[in-house]
Amino acid sequence: MKKVGKRISGRSSQIIGRKIFRYKRVNSTQDKAKKFAKKGLAEGTAIIAEIQTQGKGRLGRRWVSPKGGIWVSIILRPEITSMETPKITMIGGLAVAKAIAELFRLEAKLKWPNDVLVRTIPGSEFKKVCGVLTEALSGAGRVNYVITGLGINVNNRMPPGLRDTAVSLKEATGSNLSRQKLLRRVLEKFDKYYLDFKKLGMGPILKECKRISAVLDREVKIECVDEVIEGKALDIDEYGALIVETDEGRKRVVAGDVTILSKIL
Ligand code: BTN
Repeated sequence: MKKVGKRISGRSSQIIGRKIFRYKRVNSTQDKAKKFAKKGLAEGTAIIAEIQTQGKGRLGRRWVSPKGGIWVSIILRPEITSMETPKITMIGGLAVAKAIAELFRLEAKLKWPNDVLVRTIPGSEFKKVCGVLTEALSGAGRVNYVITGLGINVNNRMPPGLRDTAVSLKEATGSNLSRQKLLRRVLEKFDKYYLDFKKLGMGPILKECKRISAVLDREVKIECVDEVIEGKALDIDEYGALIVETDEGRKRVVAGDVTILSKIL
């Protein structure tokens, strides 16, 4: 079932979610969004599916996407270079973290580079509730389009193999939640931060991302493509790279899998 251009009621976005395509089942909303972007569909178009049969995570991993979650990809056409796509990941992560914190009064943090974590009780462990995947097509030094995918575990149960590190919002709050309400809030937040970014650059967004970062000031281990880096996470620069103090001096890391070695406070 497909509805073209259906508005989510109560939505007040200027760009993000102006047009929404809803599907019962797709391979991946990322792939649908890419096809639509190539056909020239407008910036802000969102593609949502109840179920993804081949949900994609970062680094070619699989993203388990049963009924109950929010699986959405958004077409963006920012005036940036491909080096700057992590900025869009930050905007997406911040939108989800803020929406969750506001609606469910959960403490939400950003785990560089693309995870949103929550915890229910102060002192308990933070677990991943959302992953952000940003893919771009570039040409002549600029980005042609960016597809930002948000995978939010809402009412779905986490499979046993993921329960140590990941949680759904239903598990975190103890209640079945309105996905529509959450989606609406996420799109509104995304819209706000994306407009801020267009007008003001990354300054205010970066400040907020750093404020709710789960990695800054922590000892971390980062598995990159060709090396493993250990040290203290010092800063996130305006391109979204992590600055780490290691035994060999400061390193600037653009991508990798982070393990936080000290407890998140
Ligand atoms: C990650 O943490 O590895 C990123 C996961 C991103 C998952 C979302 S779900 C919606 C969109 N469609 C996909 O196939 N992947 C992204």
